[in-house]
Amino acid sequence: MSDQNGPVAVVTGGGSGIGRATVLRLLDAGFRVVVADVNAETAAATVELAAAPDRVAVAAVDVRDEDAVAAALALAVDRFGGLSAVVNNAGVGGAFGAITEIESADWDYTFEVLVRGVFYGVKHAARIMQAQGSGGSIVNVASVAGLSGGLGPVPYSAAKAAVVNFTKAVSIELAADRIRVNAVLPGAISTPLVHHGRPERAEDKLAATQPWPAAGRPEHIASAIAFLAGGESEFVTGEALVVDGGLTAAGPGPAFAERLGNDPRLRGMAGVNHGTTGVASVVRTRPE
Ligand SMILES: NC(=O)c1ccc[n+]([C@@H]2O[C@H](COP(=O)([O-])OP(=O)(O)OC[C@H]3O[C@@H](n4cnc5c(N)ncnc54)[C@H](O)[C@@H]3O)[C@@H](O)[C@H]2O)c1
Repeated sequence: MSDQNGPVAVVTGGGSGIGRATVLRLLDAGFRVVVADVNAETAAATVELAAAPDRVAVAAVDVRDEDAVAAALALAVDRFGGLSAVVNNAGVGGAFGAITEIESADWDYTFEVLVRGVFYGVKHAARIMQAQGSGGSIVNVASVAGLSGGLGPVPYSAAKAAVVNFTKAVSIELAADRIRVNAVLPGAISTPLVHHGRPERAEDKLAATQPWPAAGRPEHIASAIAFLAGGESEFVTGEALVVDGGLTAAGPGPAFAERLGNDPRLRGMAGVNHGTTGVASVVRTRPE
């Protein structure tokens, strides 16, 4: 959908990393954007970076809450007059550690944020876009960890694989309404989730992770998302677009898997990584 004021997008997880870069990229492309994030502080910081504050709104959303996701999408319609694109990007590292130690609550948290949150985003975007009758574009941020077993913690890999196949399956149903659904699968990207506030330290390591001789940056992913969100990608649907500097082409080594959470030293240890939500992460060791 597009009117004289430009298209409208909602970006979940728009307070940090890939989501923030996507908000700024879409604003550059003329979109009006709702920044939907559970972290009010970082969401407000994204708005401060925007060159066109009148074209941005903020929604306080935990993507695990269906009503909150629906309300964020409704805000786009109320404030900006329609909905053209939704980027389901919010994410955390989630449960990690030895499979023998992972607790159900941490497994569920991981799937609630990474999979159920995406389901809510697609469900409510599709309702609005079907009612508008002019199509739309939904982009789900998955991960190369959804393609194989060695690229992230086990629960995270399982959740991201679910996002990839959910995207393909639902794209079939929504094609008749000209609603496109695609996934972007980032490789290793220098975001606060990965660099923990020290990008310069992380980026040398990240640059050596894949064949491309520089670290993956949030803007690399934002460009791919913007392509899929806008009209230039008409006829692209059900696609899982890998943006990883050649990482999966080359195949990762075992050292890479260790860095991303499948470290054998984690035997007997588990926990949950709440990412940049503002909630502290938890590490537990099995009592002897
Ligand atoms: N950085 C990488 O290397 C990488 C690689 C592959 C995939 N990804 C995916 O990209 C997406 C963005 O990650 P990032 O690296 O930019 O991380 P980030 O931590 O910088 O940003 C994630 C944002 O999501 C928000 N968020 C988390 N849980 C939420 C919830 N329940 N409700 C609403 N918002 C919530 C956080 O507050 C934060 O603003 C995630 O889905 C992640 O899994 C990242």
